[in-house]
Amino acid sequence: MTEPTVVVAAALQESGRLLAARRSAPPELAGRWELPGGKVEPGEDPKRALVRELREELGIGAELVAPVPGEWPLKPGYVLRVWTARLLSGRPRPLEDHDELRWLGPDEIWSVDWLDQDVPAVKAVLAAQQP
Ligand code: CDP
Repeated sequence: MTEPTVVVAAALQESGRLLAARRSAPPELAGRWELPGGKVEPGEDPKRALVRELREELGIGAELVAPVPGEWPLKPGYVLRVWTARLLSGRPRPLEDHDELRWLGPDEIWSVDWLDQDVPAVKAVLAAQQP
């Protein structure tokens, strides 16, 4: 059986807020919100892939902090894995794939229309942060 393609995404956090990104494409996903990230290339290390995606999509340097326990199915043949991350350099801008970014405070997490498949991942991010 072929291994699923891994999609990596970041829970980028600053001052207690979480970065959400609104997709501009493809049409069936446009307008929905996600944790920014993208596909791991064949042979690429997933963590390096995520740092690369954050640079390409948001124009930032980021440091991954910790893996969020869990793996979530996307469309057939794809799985989502998430790391918490922090900004090292730059301010996030929607350079590719997104048309809006929003820093969500603890009371605002569910104020955006997350992609269905990102909902359990966001819940796991929050659960991993409970003291
Ligand atoms: O940027 P790249 O083409 O590598 O990947 P992408 O188009 O951003 O993401 C690949 C697939 O993963 C798409 O079908 C996205 O909808 C999905 N994805 C997701 O469901 N949740 C995320 N947080 C990130 C990507």
